[in-house]
Amino acid sequence: MELIVEHGDLTQVACDVLIVNLFAEVTAPGGGTGAVDQALGGWITSLIAQDGFKGKLNTTLDIPTFGRIPAKRVVVVGLGAKAEFTLDRVRQAAATGIKRAKALKAETVATIVHGAGTAGLPAGACAQAVAEGTLLGAYEFTKYKTNAVDEPKSTIARVLIVEQDAKKLPSMATSIARGHIIADSANLARDLANEPPEKVTPAFLADTAQKIAAQYGLRCEVWDEEQIVTERMNCLHMVGRGSAHPPRFIRLDYLPDGVPTHRICIIGKGLCYDSGGLSLKPSEFMRHMKTDMSGGADVLAVMRIIGQLKPSVAVTGLIPACENLVNGNSYKVDDILVARNGKTIEIDNTDAEGRLVLADALSYAAEQSFDAIIDIATLTGGCVIALAHIWTGVMGTDQALIDSIIAAGVQSGEKFWALPFDDEVRTMLDSDLADMKNSGGREGSAIQGGIFLKEFAGETPWVHLDIAGTSFLDKPRAYEPKGATGVPVRTLVEYILTR
Ligand code: BES
Ligand code: MN
Ligand code: ZN
Repeated sequence: MELIVEHGDLTQVACDVLIVNLFAEVTAPGGGTGAVDQALGGWITSLIAQDGFKGKLNTTLDIPTFGRIPAKRVVVVGLGAKAEFTLDRVRQAAATGIKRAKALKAETVATIVHGAGTAGLPAGACAQAVAEGTLLGAYEFTKYKTNAVDEPKSTIARVLIVEQDAKKLPSMATSIARGHIIADSANLARDLANEPPEKVTPAFLADTAQKIAAQYGLRCEVWDEEQIVTERMNCLHMVGRGSAHPPRFIRLDYLPDGVPTHRICIIGKGLCYDSGGLSLKPSEFMRHMKTDMSGGADVLAVMRIIGQLKPSVAVTGLIPACENLVNGNSYKVDDILVARNGKTIEIDNTDAEGRLVLADALSYAAEQSFDAIIDIATLTGGCVIALAHIWTGVMGTDQALIDSIIAAGVQSGEKFWALPFDDEVRTMLDSDLADMKNSGGREGSAIQGGIFLKEFAGETPWVHLDIAGTSFLDKPRAYEPKGATGVPVRTLVEYILTR
């Protein structure tokens, strides 16, 4: 989909669908919507009265224009109460509008920048949010649906983002371009997680990393199973040993020109499938475990964005990638593994595998001189119970880092919540035979997961993001589809760009 910044007048733009907006309980629209209403001889005002359209957030009103203006149809998107308006509602409104346009089989869509001119919302941030909401909202994973079964796929070819004030155009174009780059890669993260597990293997993730590196000028290094063993990544090796698709350890580096102001490492859990291993999951819990590599997909997406936006910070992305399956070589309950940092781990449950592969990746990251390490993982079902599919769980060793992530999330519209993080939980992981066991049962399991990982993060400020709930939805939201969400790609980018 092309996003085109267009200088001109909404009432003069030719398109299939023109998207305007309305705050709740407004009876006579102003701004861009008011201008369109006037050109239509007051139809919008009449329809508000006649159909009882109240401008409720994420509702729409369709108006055919019968040649009164070049746009064939107008879609009015409700913005909700003016006093409750936020940047995220700009994103939501853009998504609601584009989804309606898609349902109307539009090819060319024009839109106003929602929120522009609303007190307290910077114009640039609004333009970026419109680009993001449009592309994230239009996303559908339909490649495996054939037209024979489904209706012909609707495709929006271009979206014209219309601005009357010529002075605003250059900065608007920059913000739109940034939103476009960010949303495209968030959608790539969604694709990777939505693809079936037969396709997205550790080798496929590694190939994808190499392609991204070649295209955007990043450095890429991939270790195969043999190198993983020589590099003492025993946990990654053992978790991956039960699969016919061997593990990979993937590293991507972005280096700015000149001395970097900051060095950030992001680590994504790359479980291309999690059957639970010998501690096999019941069938209903195995469903969707193809998405257990979402953290890894997020890292690829962030690196792809950073390669294009080129900030002055250095960013390294790490992905321990493997499959947790069952064969005669599978690691076993009661095994004792030695992580890269030398600590020993007794296996209490082979389904607590994410923390094992992250243990090696964190140990590796802790050996190097990063200013911050962030891991992103679909780590625990307990986090979904605690925080639903709404908040990503945050734990870590550095309050400033935790606060920065939460603040970046406010900007991106992705929600985070810090869980209590106390060393008292460590006793739950005490092992009779080894330094720790990999699970201490169900109680506080999200926090146990974080406390386990802390053993490997070393002295570097570190934060753990448990995305088990937020990376995947059963029910769609305004700009998040059913299935993989790409959370928290945009927050990580916001965090990196504001260092
Ligand atoms: N990948 C799962 C966590 C998960 C559950 C992600 C539901 C998304 C949705 C993880 O590897 C896992 O199995 N965790 C176990 C840990 C337990 C054995 C300590 C869990 O949460 O049940
Ligand atoms: Mn598991
Ligand atoms: Zn898992």
